[in-house]
Formats: sequence, C-alpha cells, structure tokens
Amino acid sequence: MPTLVIIGAQWGDEAKGKLVDVLGEQSDLVVRYSGGNNAGHTVIVGDEEYKFHLIPAGILHPNVTAILGSGMVVCPKGLLEEFDRTVAQRTFGPTDNSPWDEKTQRKLGELKISSAAHVVFPYHRMLDNLEEEARGANKIGTTSRGIGPAYQDKVARFGIRMGEFVRPEAFRTRLKEVLTYKNRLLEMFGSSPVDFTSLYDEYSAYAERLAPFVCDTEPIVQDAVAAGKRVLFEGAQGALLDLDSGTYPYVTSSHPVAGGACLGTGIGPRDIDSVLGVCKAYATRVGSGPFPTELHDDIGEWIRQHGKEFGTTTGRGRRCGWLDLVALRHSCRLNSLSGLVVTRLDILAGFDTVKVATGYRVGGESLNYVPAEADVFAQVEPVYETLPGWSGNLRTARKLEDLPSEARAYLDYMAEATGVPVAVVSVGPARDETIMVRPDLIWGGT
Ligand code: IMP
Repeated sequence: MPTLVIIGAQWGDEAKGKLVDVLGEQSDLVVRYSGGNNAGHTVIVGDEEYKFHLIPAGILHPNVTAILGSGMVVCPKGLLEEFDRTVAQRTFGPTDNSPWDEKTQRKLGELKISSAAHVVFPYHRMLDNLEEEARGANKIGTTSRGIGPAYQDKVARFGIRMGEFVRPEAFRTRLKEVLTYKNRLLEMFGSSPVDFTSLYDEYSAYAERLAPFVCDTEPIVQDAVAAGKRVLFEGAQGALLDLDSGTYPYVTSSHPVAGGACLGTGIGPRDIDSVLGVCKAYATRVGSGPFPTELHDDIGEWIRQHGKEFGTTTGRGRRCGWLDLVALRHSCRLNSLSGLVVTRLDILAGFDTVKVATGYRVGGESLNYVPAEADVFAQVEPVYETLPGWSGNLRTARKLEDLPSEARAYLDYMAEATGVPVAVVSVGPARDETIMVRPDLIWGGT
C-alpha cells in the first residue's frame, strides 16, 4: 500500500509542483485533494515550462491517472484553458522529449474529475471581490478566483457539483435555484445580477466538453490503494493556510494539511503511508496575515528578486523572510511528516550568515508554538539564531556531499529543530536538480 501525501509545509508556493512531477513518474495515480485554481504549480521539463492551477502536476507522465478529487472546487473555464494549453505544449512542443507511451498511446496521463467536486462560477469570483472590498483594511488578499465563495456554497449546501453540472437538465434546474439566491446577494452588495440564459449557455458548452472526464473517482482511488498501487496525493497551498489550523482568518477556505487528503479523495487515515512536507530554505507568504520573520529590508527584496518570488497565479510579489522553525515545527506536527523536502537552498547562497527563528517572544514572555489567534501571532517577535551562510552554485549538486558544508549544516539544523529528517533537497527548478537524501522515507519504505 505505497501511498504518499505531499503537502506545503509553510504558506504555499514551496515548489510542490516540481516534486509532484519528479515523484509522479513513480506513481500510478496522482490525486489533487483540495483548493482550486488559486494554486499555481510550475513544472520545468527541458526548455518547456508548464503552469498548472487545477490539473495535478503528475499529468506529464503518460502512465499516470491524474485525478481532481472531491475536495476541490473547479473552474470549468480555467480547467479547459489549462487542459488545451498542456495538450498543445506536450504533444507539439518543440522540445518535447518525452517518449511515446506504447501501452497508453499517449504522451499525457489520463485525466479524471470527481463528480463530487464543486463548480466555481463567475458569481463566486464577483462575490470574492465584493467580500474583499467589504473587509476594507482587513482584507485577506485572496487570489480573486472565487474560492472562498465556492466553498461557502458547498458548506451552505448551495453548491453545484461536477456530477450535476455535466447533466444538462440537472444543471439547468440547480442553476435556476441557486442563481435566484445569488442574484439577491449580488444586488445587496449593489452589483448587477447575473443573467441566467447567458451563464447557462456559456457553462453548458464547458460542461459538454468536460463530461467525458467526470466520474465517481472515490472507488478508483480506493481500489488503487487496496491493490497496492502507488498513489500520490497532491496538496495545494500550505498547511499554515489551512482553514482550521492556519492563521485564521488569513487562510484559504479548504484543508491543505495532510488530513485533507482523506477528506478530499475518499480514503481513510490508515491508508496514508508517508507524508512529505515541502518547505523553502527561507519563508514567503502572499496576501495578508501574520508573518513574524518577514524582512522589510534589502535582504527581503534581494530574496524576492533573486528567487523570482512572484505569484504563479496572480503575479503578486511575495512577502519574503527568514526561515521560521517554530512555524515549521507546528506544520510538522499538524501533518505527522515522514520527511522534509527542502527547496530553494540555491537561492540563499551568497550570504555570509543566515538567520532562522527558533522561538518567539510576546509581551515579555517566551513562546515556542504558533498561537491560534492571528492578532496574537501578529505581535510575536522572532528570536533568531544566526548560522554560517554558504556560497557557490549549488545547482550542480546531485548528492549531499556536493553541497557546501555550511548548507549541509543548515539542513541538519532544520532536521534537529523540527525532529523530522530531510528526505529530499531541491537545488534548482529542473527535474534532475534534486538530491534524494532518504528515498526510504518517500513511499513508506516500499
Ligand atoms: P484564496 O484561497 O484565493 O481565498 O486566498 C486566501 C489566502 O490564501 C490569500 O492570502 C492567498 O494569497 C493565499 N493563497 C491561496 N492560494 C495560494 C497558493 O497557491 N499559494 C500561496 N498562497 C495562496
């Protein structure tokens, strides 16, 4: 039963996409379990750069079945654009060097969408923006993709699921019912109502194209797990943006933690063999919310520019700071991590010294955990440890011994402080710029 969950261990953007692509090659199924096209996963193969927002990054391997799980919210328009772009890039791309798969007769993996996943409509995006406006100075800084309002509808039992969406009569009935309510809400905000006929016509065309991909995916995942196939569960965002365990209210509306893989795909907790937590060698955050180690100086700007820390989905500049080991330890516990995947170690090269937060102080008291209240968390002062920096081009390193000794010491420090071993180190965006430190931690030792 080799199953693996890959989660973001910070505030998202930890380069999970690359890891899912690398380990996707060893997988039979890659299943995304939460979020929607608020996520942005970048995969680089040769000279080609793929950007995924909804499609699991494992799709680039022809033998993989890539599933959009029931815990997701799916924008049909965005998904079709992404699908068409990926097919065009993969099949006809000038540098496509992937082998034609004789068995599947494909260059891309197979795509399936859970009939229980929820649909994101334009009124969700409108409401996302209106709600942000209403929050004024306390806005969350959402990605404006309608994610929060789509999950609100799911919880309120007003949502339309993919299974209904692709059946024209069911879709017509549900949309009529839901739009009456949504239009009242939009009018309350002073916005124009959405016209039923034009929305139905536009989205029916998307539904017709997506229908062949929609099915009950839970039995497919459960059967694969029971048959001992390799199933990779792909998380989106990061554990610190989790609706319950993150820095509420500055969070996303789903469950990026490892437990979300159960909620969003139909497996139980004992079906998970290992969990890898992807974290950068430093920290970033997009949108509002507490970020104790944020750097408002030249160092923060240097990391942003040098690390090209701009959002894949929104293009927004990310807030950058030193690694926060208190927050990372919190994340390790929330996700019962088997191993850490440390990314972007190459970006930190060039500093004489680097800092890591090992504790907090608030109101004269020491604190060694992440407080649940965002306003308390916003007041903590990080307590830093200064460590020797490293230099040189790390991108050619293929084993731990190829790294500068200071960088290795930094990794050891992370493992020691969190109690979680380093399983993988990423030293660049390409597939081969990866050091497999502890392969035994990846698929539960199988
Ligand atoms: P929403 O998910 O669009 O509702 O945004 C809620 C918060 O989560 C905002 O602070 C976003 O910037 C953040 N967020 C959502 N998706 C991602 C992601 O994929 N990476 C990083 N931050 C994200």
